[in-house]
Amino acid sequence: MAELILALDLPDKDKALRLLDELDGALVWCKVGMEMFTHYGPPLLAELASRKLKIFLDLKFYDIPHTVAQAVLQASLLGVDLLTVHCQGGQRMLEDCVAAREKAPKKIMLFGVTVLTSFASGEMPGISIQPKDFATSLAALANDCGLDGVVCSPQEVAQIKHEHPHLACLCPGVRPTWAGLGDQRRVATPGQAVSWGADYLVVGRPILQAKDHRDAFLRICEEMSRPL
Ligand code: C5P
Repeated sequence: MAELILALDLPDKDKALRLLDELDGALVWCKVGMEMFTHYGPPLLAELASRKLKIFLDLKFYDIPHTVAQAVLQASLLGVDLLTVHCQGGQRMLEDCVAAREKAPKKIMLFGVTVLTSFASGEMPGISIQPKDFATSLAALANDCGLDGVVCSPQEVAQIKHEHPHLACLCPGVRPTWAGLGDQRRVATPGQAVSWGADYLVVGRPILQAKDHRDAFLRICEEMSRPL
């Protein structure tokens, strides 16, 4: 059964905590990305952990292998459950991250970002192949390097799952028919994403910008429970 992750992409911690109160009892996973982590740092993660939430820290690390591996080790000490690095960091960077993760006292899942779901065809600087082909080749690299999963568009999940059945797929770019696209491009509905094989859906604005947050969250859960 696929799991829904709420992206806490908000400028204000009090607002985020009020939202968590609204979703109390329904929410299992939340994502802290660069906006909130830059402002509030590790104490925010501790606060989320004290609420017994599972934490996806989405900082999409991308640097030389040593630097990223050390950052993975530090992140693994913060009590997070899932962490992202960019697959485009390449084989040595990914392998060093996996090795760093093995040293951590708490097991965290390491996922590789393939191609951002905001990229449409022809928009990736200097890359002429289609986003889907690039994403699937990066997923193969992630699999070979021993990562637990990849972040990809729902539109790429079926092929990635076909080629690497044990690689978990976490999908942004999820848009119910009743929500706006925003900056996302390679999108699908929650039902489509689950039907095509996604293990985790990460959703922000369709919930954050809804009038009734709990209703929007539960509607997405309901759409996920009856795939196409
Ligand atoms: O608001 P929205 O539902 O578009 O939020 C999607 C979330 O997924 C954002 O927090 C964004 O940072 C994240 N994400 C993404 N594309 C990726 C990886 C992560 O949109 N490839």
